Amino acid sequence: MTDTLLRSQLKECRKLNKQLTSDALSAKKKAQKFVQVLIERHEEDRRAISRELHDEVAQLLTGINFELAVLTKEASNSDKKLQKRIAETQSLISKSVEVVHNFARQLRPRVLDDLGIVAAIKTAIKDFTKVSGIPVELKAPKGSIKLESLKKTVIFRVTQEALINVNKHSKATKVQIRMTLDKQRLVLEIEDNGKSFKKNSKNKSFGIGIQGMEERVKMVRGDFKISSNEGAGTTVVITIPLKKDSHNE
Ligand SMILES: Nc1ncnc2c1ncn2[C@@H]1O[C@H](COP(=O)(O)OP(=O)(O)OP(=O)(O)O)[C@@H](O)[C@H]1O
Ligand SMILES: [Mg+2]
Repeated sequence: MTDTLLRSQLKECRKLNKQLTSDALSAKKKAQKFVQVLIERHEEDRRAISRELHDEVAQLLTGINFELAVLTKEASNSDKKLQKRIAETQSLISKSVEVVHNFARQLRPRVLDDLGIVAAIKTAIKDFTKVSGIPVELKAPKGSIKLESLKKTVIFRVTQEALINVNKHSKATKVQIRMTLDKQRLVLEIEDNGKSFKKNSKNKSFGIGIQGMEERVKMVRGDFKISSNEGAGTTVVITIPLKKDSHNE
């Protein structure tokens, strides 16, 4: 083979390689964009269902309860049996209202859109402690933090999933959540003092939860880390870049 032929084949190979790399990159970008659209749609759906539950279903139930209160007054005093049954129905309806409110809040807490990320994290902590009995210490900046809606959602969903994992897997007795921010970035750490876990050799011990957290954080060009060490529990740390956001203290 002549030198010229070799050179021309090498050139051809490089060209092909460049083309393949660029195709792979654009396929990766397309896939990332697709995941982002899916997550945004999913979030929109949750917001809509949450509103519907809160504004329509819970309101209807509250309306029925009001009607029952009127009926109790109207039922003659002698009809104690009827009054008792109405009271029991009222109590069932009150419980249903609570269930619907809790469910709506878990789907997408209104405070996230209305009052911001710190308020929403506080509601997630309240729900978590109620279910798990594990106390959470929160350190976060005072005042409101103005964030792009997508970033706010990402931070909230990571907090929710990390807390779900603490409850499901850690047997921890306390959790610390720290949020710090400067002009460039917001850092959120969720640390528990429970049992640690190891990735298996094929790196496959991560389920959908951890992968989902990582994907969401990548979507806003952030950084995601999870560390778990014998005797030191598990810590999730996310860093979210803030260039375009403004702080509203
Ligand atoms: N805080 C934690 N403490 C102890 N182990 C944890 C903790 N967080 C995660 N793990 C371990 O990492 C594994 C993967 O977590 P991941 O959230 O990805 O999946 P999962 O919780 O098992 O399932 P799901 O897909 O429903 O989230 C868990 O099964 C558990 O073994
Ligand atoms: Mg999980």
